Amino acid sequence: MLDHFNQKIESYLAEYNFPYSPKNLYEPLDYFLGLSGKRLRPVLTLMAAELGGKDAVEAIHAAISIELFHNFSLIHDDIMDNAPIRRGLPTVHEKWNSNIAILSGDVLLVKSYELLSKQSSEHILELYKLFNKTAIEVCEGQQMDMDFEEREDVTIEEYISMIRLKTSVLLGCALEFGFIISNQSELNRKSIYEFGVNLGIAFQIQDDILDLFGDPEKVGKQVGGDVISNKKTLLYLVAENIAKKLNDNKLDNLKAIKDLNKKVQETSQYYIELGVLEETKNYLNHYYNQAIDSLESVVSDKSKVNLLEMVNYLFNRQS
Ligand code: IPE
Ligand code: IPE
Ligand code: MG
Ligand code: MG
Ligand code: MG
Repeated sequence: MLDHFNQKIESYLAEYNFPYSPKNLYEPLDYFLGLSGKRLRPVLTLMAAELGGKDAVEAIHAAISIELFHNFSLIHDDIMDNAPIRRGLPTVHEKWNSNIAILSGDVLLVKSYELLSKQSSEHILELYKLFNKTAIEVCEGQQMDMDFEEREDVTIEEYISMIRLKTSVLLGCALEFGFIISNQSELNRKSIYEFGVNLGIAFQIQDDILDLFGDPEKVGKQVGGDVISNKKTLLYLVAENIAKKLNDNKLDNLKAIKDLNKKVQETSQYYIELGVLEETKNYLNHYYNQAIDSLESVVSDKSKVNLLEMVNYLFNRQS
């Protein structure tokens, strides 16, 4: 079933052409959008539109608009995180350079706004209102994520607020787009948004786990990128809490290791010794359960089987 929604997105993107010139502005976008992303967010928009009683195709412009926004945020995120690989291939700033990645990212952001205007005019104001709010929140989350790299007193609560902004609100927005387009009540829109936020929190926790413990072939990103950048991931914060109880200050030594392969290797070893993975997975399960609970409070006479399948797919994902 997921494939069926995915195909709608892929075929739209295959037809979506950027101008030829300037080549260095648009070629990176053809390249990046051609890489195999999961297309999770636009699929959520289509599913929500259907759950609200519309044909999925009626939400296609809004769905693609979200995917373009997401890709813009990744191109810039990779500069900020100094990431060499994405979706198994070189990032835009690696393959071209940072100036090109900044500018093609900028134009992609504008393209995402442009595309949203193709949705039917009766919904346009509500869609833009939510989109603007979400886009600003994503930037706020991204700034917090970078600020946290320099801080040593980040709490798990602050971490959850940060990932809610950098990642989850976009999933909420994707779903609510489908409900705005299918003319759902304000209350029901809030319910599906909340589902997206809980799902997004679980999604980002999983992303943190895969960053260090995933199969690099499947994840398509540099293993341990978060360790290298001293990110305050949930793995790190859980490790810090356990180590504190044991009066162990090994994390400080690990952070100071200059050889990056050694740093990643020894950090993952230490996390395993501390039992970090188990406790992190408790948080993961908690937010997946929250997501399922919030999906239950969404009112619809249609089946929620597609969204439940999506939750299940994300819960088990390796990439
Ligand atoms: C990566 O998102 C960025 C995060 C919010 C963790 P995805 O894992 O959805 O990336 P693609 O689009 O499938 O590559
Ligand atoms: C990225 O979070 C969130 C956004 C792009 C807004 P990450 O930095 O953890 O995402 P990955 O791991 O690079 O995909
Ligand atoms: Mg990042
Ligand atoms: Mg990143
Ligand atoms: Mg990550």
